Amino acid sequence: MARDQYGREIRYLRVSLTDACNLRCVYCMPEHMTFRPGSALLQDDELLTLIGLFAELGFEKIRFTGGEPTLRRNLVELVRAVAAMAGIRTVGLTTNGVLLDFLARPLREAGLSSVNVSLDTLDAARFRQITRWGNLRDVLAGLEAAERAGLRIKLNAVPVRGWNDGEDVVALARLTLEKPWQVRFIEMMPVGQIAGFQESHVVSETEVRARIEAALGKMTVENDGQLDGEARVYRLPGARGTIGFISPVSQPFCAGCNRVRLTADGMLRLCLLRETEVDLRKPLRAGWSRERLRALIAEAIRRKPWGHGLAEHDFATNRVMSEIGG
Ligand code: 5AD
Ligand code: SF4
Repeated sequence: MARDQYGREIRYLRVSLTDACNLRCVYCMPEHMTFRPGSALLQDDELLTLIGLFAELGFEKIRFTGGEPTLRRNLVELVRAVAAMAGIRTVGLTTNGVLLDFLARPLREAGLSSVNVSLDTLDAARFRQITRWGNLRDVLAGLEAAERAGLRIKLNAVPVRGWNDGEDVVALARLTLEKPWQVRFIEMMPVGQIAGFQESHVVSETEVRARIEAALGKMTVENDGQLDGEARVYRLPGARGTIGFISPVSQPFCAGCNRVRLTADGMLRLCLLRETEVDLRKPLRAGWSRERLRALIAEAIRRKPWGHGLAEHDFATNRVMSEIGG
């Protein structure tokens, strides 16, 4: 079992498969982005070697993210290989949903457990504004396909002041009346070169909750108020699904953090919001033994930072969100 110096058990690895994306969400990246060349990214065999080492260190949960992970060739085969690894209990995918219509079923058959689909509004025009390039129709088709394939579904919405902080959050919350999904509202985090925009457009959890309750009734607390992962979970009266709030800035959940991240270029990122990274690609390509690599990973995890420094205005600016995987 991998443990850090604060005694936290780390068993959840988020793996970014590419920094590229087919959308350009305003809160995630600038419109004109240059992505890393393919040679900088971990190749499939390298990725599987590293994930295998994490599994040997007691990791149980893998989530593929991006950028947009569905842009990665061989995604289905990667899921199949990881789902079959000893010790791995769940493989999840965080996606914008644009390509899910085609991929949901093969991914499910390969062993994927769940999808987290980013969806910030149900209004087609606003969806286009926020994603700059996206069509809402594609995502809705993707969600239907995921439902048909039997994948567990969560939606991630990031409220942005003046963009989707009004009727949009109510419409998203209303989905839980009919669907057994968890719709989660994520407080926008300042990361990378657009931290200024993010900080000035953040919408508080209190405000989103008040808006939802004014329209749809008072929510009850689920889970006895315990965090489900990083979310506080509620349910609208009579709803099939639940509503989650993830508020890393106003209500940090660092104390219960159980995760680290592998960037698409093979850096072990110990905290989303801290710049500390350990290069795994270089030693891997230099031919280090599995044992030595495993020791490198375990030692890096031991030194995982306690938490972020947002309250002290200490921002990580060495990467934008799509290069880390959210
Ligand atoms: N703050 C919070 N969430 C973000 N995401 C992307 N950028 C940010 C940000 N600055 C979300 C995406 C996606 C998830 C991986 O992270 O909407 O759902
Ligand atoms: Fe792409 Fe996700 Fe970033 Fe939007 S939030 S640009 S879908 S990586």
